[in-house]
Amino acid sequence: MSLAAPLPFIDLKAQRRRLGPQIEQALVRVLEHGAFIMGPEVRDLEAQLAAYAGVKHCISCASGTDALMMVLMAKGIGPGDAIFCPSFTFAATAEVVALLGASPIFVDVCADDFNIDPVSLKAALPVAEAAGLTPRGIIAVDLFGQPADYRALQPLADANGLWILADAAQSFGASYDNRRVGAVGDFATTSFFPAKPLGCYGDGGAIFTNDDDFRDVLHSIRVHGQGRDKYENVRLGITGRLDTMQAAVLLQKMTIFDDEIAARNAVAARYAAGLPKEMIVPTLLAGRTSVWAQYTVLLENRDAVQQKLQADGIPTMVYYMRPLHTQPPYQKYPQVPGGLPVTDSLSQKVLSLPMHPYLDTPTQERILSAAHRAVAA
Ligand SMILES: Cc1ncc(COP(=O)(O)O)c(C=O)c1O
Repeated sequence: MSLAAPLPFIDLKAQRRRLGPQIEQALVRVLEHGAFIMGPEVRDLEAQLAAYAGVKHCISCASGTDALMMVLMAKGIGPGDAIFCPSFTFAATAEVVALLGASPIFVDVCADDFNIDPVSLKAALPVAEAAGLTPRGIIAVDLFGQPADYRALQPLADANGLWILADAAQSFGASYDNRRVGAVGDFATTSFFPAKPLGCYGDGGAIFTNDDDFRDVLHSIRVHGQGRDKYENVRLGITGRLDTMQAAVLLQKMTIFDDEIAARNAVAARYAAGLPKEMIVPTLLAGRTSVWAQYTVLLENRDAVQQKLQADGIPTMVYYMRPLHTQPPYQKYPQVPGGLPVTDSLSQKVLSLPMHPYLDTPTQERILSAAHRAVAA
């Protein structure tokens, strides 16, 4: 048992020490001007995020879940529609589909990048028709920060009249074939939940699109389906706005975002070089970069190793222990013929280690030594 204090899994306080005064001043500016809803910081942030992603439009919103929901609402998704998505993901990915009365169809993931498997997707395509559903789109998740295999997904989508929504909640800042996330897929969404690589101090999210008309519909949905003003309601919508205060926080965090991504990659490289061979480390596939929202290894005796690390003061997490297709609200939805063996196996083996840009070398050495002890014992 280690006598050293337990480490944090994600150290948001270290970032606050670096950026504290700038963020406080930015928040005071919002308090002074008082435009708490859709204030100037929201427009500034949207312009910056769109430019960063390399797309025409960024529509900020209240969370990554609302971002997904708003895209599906704008596409008119409802009862009788089918959306293909992984089960090995955070609940929001499939939840929004089900909330709109449509049906997720669960597809397996690849063992190497943990993302939706194009081969499994192809096998799942006939399931929609067999279930009497209209296939409409694919939600590809960029799990743990690495983009999915869009090069392989796009022809499948095109051949079947489907669109691809990139759920980039975990991958904003990463790239695929030299295009930044946000510009990959037909449209993309992200989350600014505090623990995300680009996180605010509450809930927040954004949608990215190059389509002017789609942008207009999303603006309307964001404010109760407003028409010329908010008291003309031309469609159903939600209260989906990002708070001005959160935009002010994000604008400051954007100033160090690239530096933080570089630091995350340095941490990932040190893990890859120093972890015991019993832990299979994640790999970046061709043409992709990652923002390492999580650093997730695979190992056989996961639960025992997790307990030993815990006893040594090293926090770890299991994302995701219970894939969605096994959970009560989602068991009734169709899945790819043959089931989801890779998803089921990953859920038994994944372990996410502490990962944040401020994980310094001595601290990481402590984690690496504990990892060696844990697998040896
Ligand atoms: C893959 C994925 N999709 C969607 C979301 C939802 O984002 P939020 O928590 O901002 O609603 C998350 C975040 O936790 C996520 O990891």
